[in-house]
Amino acid sequence: MRLEGKCAVVTGAGRGIGKAIAEKFLREGAEVLICDLGPERLEAARKELAALGTVHREVADVTSREAVEHLVGRAKEELGRIDVLANNAGISRFEPFLEITDTNWDDTLAINLKGVFLCSQVVAREMKNQGSGAIVNMGSTNGILGEEGLAHYNASKAGVILLTKTMAIELAPYNVRVNSVCPGFILTELQIESGMSEETIREYTSLIPLNRYGRVEEVANAFAFLACDEASFITGTELVVDGGQTCRE
Ligand SMILES: NC(=O)c1ccc[n+]([C@@H]2O[C@H](COP(=O)([O-])OP(=O)(O)OC[C@H]3O[C@@H](n4cnc5c(N)ncnc54)[C@H](O)[C@@H]3O)[C@@H](O)[C@H]2O)c1
Repeated sequence: MRLEGKCAVVTGAGRGIGKAIAEKFLREGAEVLICDLGPERLEAARKELAALGTVHREVADVTSREAVEHLVGRAKEELGRIDVLANNAGISRFEPFLEITDTNWDDTLAINLKGVFLCSQVVAREMKNQGSGAIVNMGSTNGILGEEGLAHYNASKAGVILLTKTMAIELAPYNVRVNSVCPGFILTELQIESGMSEETIREYTSLIPLNRYGRVEEVANAFAFLACDEASFITGTELVVDGGQTCRE
């Protein structure tokens, strides 16, 4: 119960890795507020998670300051305080660099990077007043090494990693830690929706020293560690969860 007594907000928690993070936080004893875009997906996730502990839900688009301020206001009402923020919401759209549209560039940067900035800034103002907090941001191995067909996604995740480090410096005086988790290949709905074939999945897996794709629970475990007090001297770092993929030249 490493998060016992803590109150946590998880973005993009209607499915996939975000839902797994919320589940892990609940199993570790936290009270959790989950947010996502669609009310139906969110309510289905809340129902599924409710057996594990106290779960609140709030529809919010992380790209809108107004929506984020409303979300944080609701979180304060429901939870009383915010000890942990997990910035997980994100999208990825495969397209060659020469064909990336302005819309896809803007959407990717807005959700993956601006969303992290907005949620972190609004929540960190609360954490500053509390004198404590932990923020864990969703990076990616794509923020460390390039991958064709994902220039916008890679740029957004590289941005998350350096935003994390800068926030870690600026928020340290308030006892707020900020870290990122950088997963490699984790099979979720996002991967399938982005058009990944069985053959591509096999190709990806063959590049991973552990010779398999990662599970959402394995990413959630990293979030829980960085969110909890066992990580009390860890701030500004990125924790890579990739089965060894980025060890290769
Ligand atoms: N799956 C992987 O292999 C992998 C690897 C590295 C990083 N990641 C990152 O992990 C995160 C979660 O990925 P996933 O695979 O679970 O994806 P997913 O599509 O299954 O889940 C993402 C969730 O975020 C929500 N979301 C999207 N835009 C939003 C917005 N504007 N406001 C609020 N919520 C929004 C979606 O509705 C969805 O429920 C993403 O940031 C992704 O980039 C995934």
